[in-house]
Amino acid sequence: MSALQEIRNRFTPVLAGLTDNVDASLSMIRSSQDPKFGDFQANCAMPLAKTSGVAPRELAQQIVDQVQLDDLCETVEVAGPGFINLKLRTDWLEQQARQIVSDERLGVQRVAPKKIVIDYSSPNVAKPMHVGHLRSSVIGNCLERVLRFLGHDVISDNHIGDWGTQFGMIIYGYRHFVDEAAYGREPVAELARLYRLVNQLSDYHDACRQQSGVETQIAECAEQIAQLEASDEEPKKKKKAIKKLQGERDGLRETLAGMQSRREAVDGDAELKQLAADHADIARLARLETAKLHSGDEENRALWDEFLPECLKALDHVYGKLGVSFDKTLGESFYQPMLADVVSDLQASGLATESDGAVCVFAEGNDAPFIVQKSDGAFTYATTDLATIRYRVEEFGTQVMLYVVDTRQSEHFKLLFDTARRWGYGDVDIQHVNFGTVLGDDRRPFKTRSGDTVGLESLLDEAVARAYDVVVENDPSGSLDEDARRAVAEAVGIGGIKYADLHHNRESDYVFSWDKMLAKNGDTATYIQYANARINGIFRKGDIDLESLRSDAESLRLEHASERGLFQQILSFGDALAVVEREMRPNMLTQFLFDTANRFSTFYQDCPVLKEEDEAVRTSRLLLCDLTSRTLTQGLALLGIDAPKQM
Ligand code: ARG
Repeated sequence: MSALQEIRNRFTPVLAGLTDNVDASLSMIRSSQDPKFGDFQANCAMPLAKTSGVAPRELAQQIVDQVQLDDLCETVEVAGPGFINLKLRTDWLEQQARQIVSDERLGVQRVAPKKIVIDYSSPNVAKPMHVGHLRSSVIGNCLERVLRFLGHDVISDNHIGDWGTQFGMIIYGYRHFVDEAAYGREPVAELARLYRLVNQLSDYHDACRQQSGVETQIAECAEQIAQLEASDEEPKKKKKAIKKLQGERDGLRETLAGMQSRREAVDGDAELKQLAADHADIARLARLETAKLHSGDEENRALWDEFLPECLKALDHVYGKLGVSFDKTLGESFYQPMLADVVSDLQASGLATESDGAVCVFAEGNDAPFIVQKSDGAFTYATTDLATIRYRVEEFGTQVMLYVVDTRQSEHFKLLFDTARRWGYGDVDIQHVNFGTVLGDDRRPFKTRSGDTVGLESLLDEAVARAYDVVVENDPSGSLDEDARRAVAEAVGIGGIKYADLHHNRESDYVFSWDKMLAKNGDTATYIQYANARINGIFRKGDIDLESLRSDAESLRLEHASERGLFQQILSFGDALAVVEREMRPNMLTQFLFDTANRFSTFYQDCPVLKEEDEAVRTSRLLLCDLTSRTLTQGLALLGIDAPKQM
C-alpha cells in the first residue's frame, strides 16, 4: 500500500472524533515539498482548530498523541503554526519494497468497483479520421486502461456517427460521380473522395450565395467604425467599441477570404466548374438523400449497408496502428429505433414541449433549447444521446458515464446532462471529460500546408518513420537487427504521439511538434522508454536472471538517500493513479513516470549497480532497478505505450 494511503488510514479514526468531514482533513495530508520537513505533512490541525476552539499547535499535538504511527514513522513533529511533519521509517519502506517485489500490482490497491462506460473516439465515419480524433482516442483509451487497472468494471464504447448527413452526401456522390474502378479497388478512399467532392460543390454554391451578404456586412462594419471615430463618445468607451467592431470586421474578412478561396478552387478548374454548374442544388439534394435514408428508403438503406462495413474496416485499420480497441461500437444508427419513444417519454413526463413546431427541452437559466425533434420531424444528435444514456443505464447498470469529447461540445453536454438528470438519471455520475485543440506552429488548428485537416493515418505513419531515424541514430553499433529496429520505431513513434498528447493538461490546446515529441531528453515517451531500456541493458550486461533475483527480495535495503527517494517514488504509483481517476487527468500519470525516470537517473548516478562490490548491496540495487523497470513498463502500458527492453 502507498505510504500516503497508510498514513491517511492511521489518521482516519482520530480525525473522525474531531470532524464530520474526515475526507477534507485527509486530503490535507500530502507529501512534503521539501525533504527537510520529512516525507509527509499533515496540515489539517489548523482548520480543525478554528471550529474546536483549541489552539492549533495544541490540537496538532493531541492528534499526534493519538494517531498510531510507531511502526510507520521515525519522527512525527509539530512545527510552525500547527503543521505535523512525518518522516517514514526506513525499515517500514524496506518491508514494503520486499513485498512489492512479488506483487504484480506493484502495491496498487484495487478500489471498490463501479460500472463505468467511457464514450471515446466516436468519429463520424465515412470521412477519414483526422488529427482532431487523436485526443479523444488517446485520452479515452488511457482512462479506460487506468480505471480498469484500478479495479473498475469498464466498458469502452465507440459512439460512432454512422447515421449523419455525411451519408446523404456520399449517396448523392455515389449516384453521380463514382469512379467504379477506384471504388472496386479502395472503396473507402473513393467514398472519402466523393464526400469531399460533394462538400466542395455545396460549399462553393453556399459561398456564391453568401458572398455579397458578407461584403455588405463588412462595409457596414467599416461605416460604423467611421461613424464612431467621428463621434464625441468618451475616448475610453470609444476605443473599446471600435476595437470590438474591428474584431468583428476581421472575422468577417476571414470568412470572406475563405469563401473566395473556395470559389477560386472551383472556378479555376474547368472540370469542377462544369460539375458545379450541373449540380447547382447539390446541398439540398444531398440533404434529401439523408432524409430518405432516415425514413427507410430501401435503395438508400442498401447503399448504407454496403458502405458502412467498409467505413468500419478503415477505422479499425487506424485503431490497429494506434493500439486502441473497444468493447462496444454502438453508433448513432443503433439508437434510431428508440428515438420516437424517447421523445414521447420526454413529452409525457412534461420535460419536453413544443416550440415553433420543434420539440424542445428548456433548461433553467439557459436560453438555448435542447431540441429533440426538429419541426420537419427529424431527430437530432441530442435525441440520440438521450437514448444512449437510457440504454447504457438500463442495459449495463452504468453508474459512471464519461464522455471524452472536445471542449467545443460543452454546451451540448451541459444541456444533455441537465435533461438526463431531470429525466430520472440524477444518480448516475455523468461527466464531460473535455479537451482542447491540437494546434500547428501558427497556433491555429493543426492543418496541412494546403489547409486540409491532417489525416490521422498519415500522421501515425510519419511518426513511425521519424522514430526510425531516431532509433538508427541511437544505435550506431547496430546492436538491433532490422526487425527489432522497426518494432522499436513503432513503439517510439506511436508512443511519442500519445505521450505528447497525454502529458498536456487535457483542457489546454497544445502545439504539435515532432522535435519535442521525439526528444531523448525531457518529458517525453522516448526519455522514459530509454530509462527502461537502460535498466534492461544492466540486466543483460550482468546476465541477471530476474526470477532468481526476485527470490532474493529479503536483500532489499534502502540505505542511500537516492535509493530511498527512488523507492518512495515507486511506492506512490497508486497515489498518482488515484489522482488520474479523481480528476480524469492522464497527465498525472505522465508526470509520475517522468519523475520516476528522473529519480532513477539520480539513483544511477549516485549508486553503482553492476560495479558495486558488496554482493548484498549489488543485489539490493538490482532489485530496485527491477522495481523501477516494472513500474515504468506498467505505467507506460496504462498510457497505451509499449516499453521495449532494448532500444
Ligand atoms: N461523433 C461526434 C463528433 O464527431 C462525437 C460523439 C461524442 N459522443 C457522444 N455520445 N456524443 O463530433
